[in-house]
Amino acid sequence: MSFSSEWLALREPADLDARNRVLLAHVAAMLVGTDAPTVTDLGAGTGSTVRALAPQLPERTGWRLVDADASLLARASWELPEDRVETRVLDLAAELDTALDGAVDLVSCSALLDLVSLDWMTGLAQALKARELPFYAALTYDGRADLTSRHPLDAALIDAVNQHQHTDKGFGPALGPDGAAAAIEQLEAVGFSVESGRSDWVLEPDEAALQKALVTGWAEAAAELGALSPTDIEEWRAARFAAIEAGTLEIRVGHVDVFARP
Ligand SMILES: C[S@@+](CC[C@H](N)C(=O)[O-])C[C@H]1O[C@@H](n2cnc3c(N)ncnc32)[C@H](O)[C@@H]1O
Repeated sequence: MSFSSEWLALREPADLDARNRVLLAHVAAMLVGTDAPTVTDLGAGTGSTVRALAPQLPERTGWRLVDADASLLARASWELPEDRVETRVLDLAAELDTALDGAVDLVSCSALLDLVSLDWMTGLAQALKARELPFYAALTYDGRADLTSRHPLDAALIDAVNQHQHTDKGFGPALGPDGAAAAIEQLEAVGFSVESGRSDWVLEPDEAALQKALVTGWAEAAAELGALSPTDIEEWRAARFAAIEAGTLEIRVGHVDVFARP
């Protein structure tokens, strides 16, 4: 599945605000005494996790960014200090072991675990266990999507979005809104100590561009699923766009962050 750099740039400030501060502090505390630790970020995109985590980590932290999309990684490498960032173009569905190769102190990801399958998550938990590697997974969508000034089609629309979340994104049937819960279960099953906390987006009326992109993406997902009529979807989209343009819409999107230690 491909993601545009424009979408990743649009969501990054909301992601940065939403990351669970307690978990971030615990990740930072774990690495505080490590000289030049290495973090491998899975599904790194343009390097959002680096920008969120680097200010909290030791100055000489090195980054190994893994993604299937070479063009996103190319952007990450020109935005970040060259001597501390290595990029690896890999398909994580097939090449997870290669992605985890080498000396690593932390494995991270953001907005990835809703795309993966239960089998893949189980394999990741086992691979982390075999290497005794801690894991920080931020911003996994958990199925909660609330919009102010209710519209009669909200529930059906969000239900369709959540069903669409389970369609294959390249890893087999996707966990979608069950991603964080499945990660916690699989990581606990291999004996890790797991903490989790909410990292919801709260999109105020002044975040109109992100709100519009979200509403458009949800309408497209509902249309692809075919559970609502095109007329209903367009009515809902137009009503939500009107509220955005009137500056009256607030959207909360539920996310969960997870930090797991062997
Ligand atoms: C929602 S984006 C998140 C990107 C980044 N972590 C962030 O928070 O901005 C998901 C990322 O996973 C990558 N991805 C999806 N499927 C992949 C696969 N099979 N192998 C490697 N990367 C993949 C996409 O290219 C994309 O960069």
